[in-house]
Amino acid sequence: MTTKAPWSDGRLCYGGDWNPEQWPPQVWREDVALMRAAGINLVTVGVFAWSRLEPEPGRHTLDWLDRVLDLLHAAGIRAALSTPTASPPPWFSLRHPDALPVTADGVRLTHGSRDTYCAAAPAYRDAARSIAGVLAARYAHHPALALWHVHNEYGTTCHCPHAEAAFRRWLTGRYGDLDALNDAWVTSFWSQHYTDWAQVGAPRATQYLANPGQLLDFRRFWSDTLLSAYTEQRDLLRAANPAVPVTTNYVLGDWVPVDHARWAREVDLIAIDHYPSTADLGAEEQTAFAADLARGWARHGAGRPAPWLLAESAPNQIHTAGRMHTKEPGRMTRHSLAHVARGSAGVMFFQWRAPAGGAERFHSAVVSHAGADTRVFREAAALGAALGRLAGTAPGRVEAGVAIAYDAASGWALRHPGMPRAGLDHPGEAAAAHRALWHAGVTADVVPPGAPLDGARLLVLPALYLASDATIDWVRRHVDAGGHLLVTWLSGVADEHARIRLGGYPGAYRDLLGVRVEEFHPLADDEEVPLTGGGTGRIWSETVHLAGAETVSVYAGGAPAGRPAITRHRVGDAYAWYVSTRPDDDTYRRLLTEAARLAGVTPTCPDAPPGVEAVRRHDTDGSLLHLLNHTDRPQRVPVAGFELLTGATVDGVLTVAPGGVAVVREEPS
Ligand code: GLA
Repeated sequence: MTTKAPWSDGRLCYGGDWNPEQWPPQVWREDVALMRAAGINLVTVGVFAWSRLEPEPGRHTLDWLDRVLDLLHAAGIRAALSTPTASPPPWFSLRHPDALPVTADGVRLTHGSRDTYCAAAPAYRDAARSIAGVLAARYAHHPALALWHVHNEYGTTCHCPHAEAAFRRWLTGRYGDLDALNDAWVTSFWSQHYTDWAQVGAPRATQYLANPGQLLDFRRFWSDTLLSAYTEQRDLLRAANPAVPVTTNYVLGDWVPVDHARWAREVDLIAIDHYPSTADLGAEEQTAFAADLARGWARHGAGRPAPWLLAESAPNQIHTAGRMHTKEPGRMTRHSLAHVARGSAGVMFFQWRAPAGGAERFHSAVVSHAGADTRVFREAAALGAALGRLAGTAPGRVEAGVAIAYDAASGWALRHPGMPRAGLDHPGEAAAAHRALWHAGVTADVVPPGAPLDGARLLVLPALYLASDATIDWVRRHVDAGGHLLVTWLSGVADEHARIRLGGYPGAYRDLLGVRVEEFHPLADDEEVPLTGGGTGRIWSETVHLAGAETVSVYAGGAPAGRPAITRHRVGDAYAWYVSTRPDDDTYRRLLTEAARLAGVTPTCPDAPPGVEAVRRHDTDGSLLHLLNHTDRPQRVPVAGFELLTGATVDGVLTVAPGGVAVVREEPS
């Protein structure tokens, strides 16, 4: 039987995590009826069901899952069937104490939550393959099966002896011999020179600062270890029925030891979970950034464009440190359609029904503890209808003239405690550049270094600390082809091993930028330095010397007072900008708007009022303009075409309701 990917019939995916194992069968039937009422067409099942699928080692109880999948199929709802390997049952941990994870401090964790295993432990890997194999054998040809969802949010880490042995094997593969490793890690410093592989360990708690090269390689190694745990499951699922796509849901966050760009070539679909961490407009900024990041991985990861999907999002509350904030009416819909606007193949929630107990009992759900007669359910059903009206429009190509580089390893390297300042944050700087452009109405791609820069006239390197020779070559090729470049502080300071590129910062890009940085002057959290022309710099400042570039603005105070803060260097017909501090938001927005303008990139919808997000996507039928009104007032936007959500013809001006969304099939101009 040929199983088609859920998005292949032109419909957008709509659904979420469903946990029938938490409920008796009469609730399953009620759930499926409610799903149909809400327009749900895809549900993720089985994510944490291992102890219900294998209550004792080797004894499998699958009848309930048979019934669940049959019920879904009869209702015309498809399943993203999970392997449950993110949550081994209690019997597994008791039987295999060596498979429990060990923290960097040497503490072995115990069973009691989820994700409590070491991904390098042979017993864990055997058990994971075994349960995945059982599911593959039973369900690979089930008519409800649309997608395999392996595991859940790979991201836990371990420092146990299994992990350490695997690290040594990985290092042997990477470096070949100890001389190369000693060189890469600069072990001449602090007497760390290794003479035997047995001396090389995982970076456990140590007396003072750990070796930056060792820490960085351990992160890379662990990302590869988790990836191999994924690919071995994927391979056996694929072997059971090659027609069913396989993926795993990415968890975003600076703690995650996964290089998602490297994983992109191993999945059939990029799936991200997205939960904003702030309740103010930052939630909308984060949503746009996460979606653009996912699109970048999907477009560039595999060397072939893959689809991407919002695999989890909250139907209601935003969880911030300390409390949950209710999403105001319409906000869930705006967040969901912001992902669709930026190319998602659909919208999935965590979770369908709120559990009656368990650690996440108060996490929001489409069907809450109050049932389905709720504002949240009604909004979810309305969104289901809206997604139905957008059928046939996805995914297309999002129009973006700027590319922002994003590199997990640079983020990891900047977190080393021996940096000139605490809190250095490459993902945060990428998000800051994206936010500045978002407020300017300019859509950006977020791409891994080395990705094809098709269409991007301006490339931004935001504190892209590590620069391999290949990355330098990639940047140079962009500039040689007439592209503009904007580089911020701390970019290109080190090579891929976190060794400093000498001769003045930023060693990788000095020539291109026409500057030489002599000294860093990191700022305190609450410190600002004034810049000429208005605005301030934060976080960081530097002593910059011109070496061909011209000055755009000057430090009007602080340690580098009187020296250039922002410069630009004419390279052919383009500019290579250097920004040696983090400008305040307004200054950064103006700076990036100007750099984009000079590169020939203008806002997506120049006449859209402030607070209206505009994203244009091109598909085979022409262009679609998505308008998201994040204000509490109606907003008028000049546009002509056909509004898909209401079915109204738009003659020249469209009024988008407060907090509302419009999707306009534009008239060809
Ligand atoms: C993640 C997990 C879910 C759940 C949600 C809560 O995305 O995959 O199981 O814990 O977070 O926000």
